[in-house]
This record gives sequence, C-alpha cells and structure tokens, in this order.
Amino acid sequence: MSEQAKPNTDTASPDTASSETGSRGTVLVTGAAGYIGSHTCIELLGNGYNVVGVDNFDNSERVVLERIAELAGRPISFVELDIRDTEALRTVVTDHSPTSVIHFAGLKAVGESVEFPEKYWSVNVGGTLSLLDAIAGSDVATFVFSSSCTVYGDPAEVPVTETTPVAPISPYGRTKLAAERAIADHLSTRDCGGFLLRYFNPVGAHSSGRIGEDPVGVPNNLMPFAMQVAVGRRESLAVFGNDYDTADGTCIRDYIHVVDLAQGHVAALQAAQKSSCDVVNLGTGRGSSVLDVVNAASEAVGTPIPYEIVDRRAGDAAVIFADTTKATELLGWQADRTMVDMCRDHWAWQSQNPNGYQ
Ligand code: NAD
Ligand code: WQD
Repeated sequence: MSEQAKPNTDTASPDTASSETGSRGTVLVTGAAGYIGSHTCIELLGNGYNVVGVDNFDNSERVVLERIAELAGRPISFVELDIRDTEALRTVVTDHSPTSVIHFAGLKAVGESVEFPEKYWSVNVGGTLSLLDAIAGSDVATFVFSSSCTVYGDPAEVPVTETTPVAPISPYGRTKLAAERAIADHLSTRDCGGFLLRYFNPVGAHSSGRIGEDPVGVPNNLMPFAMQVAVGRRESLAVFGNDYDTADGTCIRDYIHVVDLAQGHVAALQAAQKSSCDVVNLGTGRGSSVLDVVNAASEAVGTPIPYEIVDRRAGDAAVIFADTTKATELLGWQADRTMVDMCRDHWAWQSQNPNGYQ
C-alpha cells in the first residue's frame, strides 16, 4: 500500500468565525442520527450552521446525539419522528424555520429491498414526498439529497459520469431514482435550488473513533464486515469472487471517506443556486479492489484479516468508480482522504466500540 495517511482534520477548520454561533442559518437534517447524517451534523456545526435533526432511530441509536455534541462542542436540536408523518415534520419546520434541508433518512439495504419492496417505496419515496409537502411554503431555499451510485446499476463504461444512463437493478435503486425525480420536480416549482448527490462507497469514521457505522445484524458491506472480523465478532470475511476481469480478479469500487462525504454536503449547501437541481457524483475517482481493501484494513489493524474466496454475489458489477469532474467544478470540493485514512479511522471506531453503540 503506497498511499500515505493524511493528517486528521475532521473538525479542525471551520471556515468562518461564525462556527460557534450558527449564524449561517438552520439546516433540517433528516436521518441525522445515521452514519452519514451524524458525520455531516458535525461538519455543519463546525461551519457555522445550526442543525435541527430528525430521525426515528430505525437504524441508529440515540447516544449518537450526545457524541455529536461532544465532538462539535455544541448540540443539535432534535425531534424524534418518522418522516412519513407530515404534520410532525411541518411542526419542526414551523418551530425551527430552516433555510436548508439535507435529506438522509431512508432505508439502504439492497437485499432487504428485494424482499420487502413496499417498505422501501413507503420510506424512501413516501417519506421524501412527505418531506417535500412539509417544506412547501416554507423558507427552505436549498435542498440536498442523498442519492446513490446504485442508480447507475451495472454501467457499461467507467468512470461513471452524471450522464451515464441510469438503470437501477434493485427496488432500493429504483426508489432512490424515484425520490431524485420527485425532488427535482418539486424544486422546479419554487425558488429553491439544490443537489442530488450520488454517493459511491462511504467508509471510515470520524478520526476520534467516537462515531461510525453501526450496522444492525450481519453487515452487507465490505468494510464493516472486514472490521467486525478484525475485532473478533466474525470468523472470516467471504470475498465474493476472484474471477472478474480485473487485475487481482476481485471487484473494484470507489470507496470514499465519510468525513470527505460530509464535507461535500457543506460544499453543496454553499454552492446551491436558486432554481437549479444538479446531479453530482461524490466519490474519489479512484478504484480499489476487494483485496486492496482487505490488505489496507489488515495494515490498519496490525494483523492479517482472515478471508476466503467464495462464489460471486449476484448483482455485483465488476468495476464502478466515479468521474468526479462535476463535483470539483460545481461544488469546489474533492475527496482527499486516502484508503489508509479510511481504514485507520474505521478501525479507530470499531476497536473502541467493538459492539457499535451498544
Ligand atoms: P443510516 O441507516 O445509517 O442512516 C439513515 C437514518 O435514517 C438512520 O438513522 C435511520 O434511523 C433513519 N430513518 C430510516 N427511516 C426513517 C424514517 N421513516 N423516518 C425517520 N428516520 C428514518 O444510513 P446512511 O449510510 O447514513 O445513509 C444515509 C442516506 O445515504 C440514505 O438515504 C442512503 O440511501 C444514502 N446512501 C448511503 C450509502 C451507504 O453506502 N452508506 C451510499 C449511497 C447512498
Ligand atoms: C463492495 C465490494 C462485494 C461484502 C453498496 C450498495 C450501493 C451503495 C454502496 C447505498 C463488492 C465485495 C462485500 C463482503 C465482499 N449503498 N464484498 N464480501 O455492493 O459496491 O455497494 O454500497 O446506496 O447501493 O449496493 O458495496 O460494500 O457491499 O461491496 O467480497 O462480505 O465488496 O462483492 O465487490 P457495493 P459492498
């Protein structure tokens, strides 16, 4: 592994003197207690925004709120609710007068979405429609949505640009695309601009190790599974196939540090223009194979992570990584943390919290 670790700057450089005051206005963050939401709350607080978070703790724990306050030096306001409860959301909007929304709340497990598609349409699309209804007529002028590279399905060409045809292959992906379209249509009717951010593969954690990803049950994703093996919760990682047409035979993905991703949201809020709603990929533009990740994670842990090669997982594309040109141009942002940083910080979280937030 040739990459050098970057210094930890997770919350070191709020860019104005207003960071203590929240003078940049209030951001309504749905899914604030979740993995990406919690890291984004810290960046927002550090950059002078106030935050009102909402979450129903379907896939998160209340203690996250204390840790956000501990790391940011001041708390977020918070209301426990289901985003499908439009009246409850409207009350939050009336009480807190947000000028921006970042919409993370949703369900994200591809396999579960195949088994229970209605649940995914209800939360991811019904929840988004409820949110749009709740902010209608409000002062919200900027809207940022958590979309996913999953909307591209199995792209014919890489790197993936924002004009790569969308062809989601799971109910999860179709609900993210439907939510994107509902948001774009809504924003076109009012004086509100925003971004539909298509994330690639978020990994890592706040460098303190105090917050991180805490999947319920058996992790679906590579990094959390590998780290749970490293911490002794699972015996061995199953690597899904080494017969792909790649250098080492394993699949290639664009892993992005969750703090870079969180900072991308702050950049998106600041770059949003009235009455425009652009799609932007958030990735690093670099591909890493499964074995690259296993090796880097083993380095971070200090001992080899045991793995075995098993059959391919159905539905996996061989190679996906982002073209990040548009993010640089429109947001003035780029991800600069390396795979070494991602593994070090993910391990800091996992080793300090072997059972997650329990
Ligand atoms: P997460 O599960 O950690 O966070 C989602 C949060 O939404 C959780 O705290 C959950 O409790 C909350 N939530 C779920 N249903 C809700 C409801 N009905 N009402 C209120 N709150 C609800 O997931 P994450 O990784 O932080 O993902 C956040 C967003 O980013 C999701 O919309 C996901 O689709 C998208 N995304 C995630 C990834 C990824 O790999 N993590 C990649 C691309 C896109
Ligand atoms: C990465 C690579 C696996 C687990 C998912 C969602 C996508 C988006 C990002 C939300 C693949 C291999 C994995 C394991 C393995 N999320 N792998 N053993 O599938 O690229 O994307 O997260 O929007 O929608 O589908 O991520 O972490 O599951 O897999 O070998 O135990 O690791 O085959 O090549 P994926 P992943």
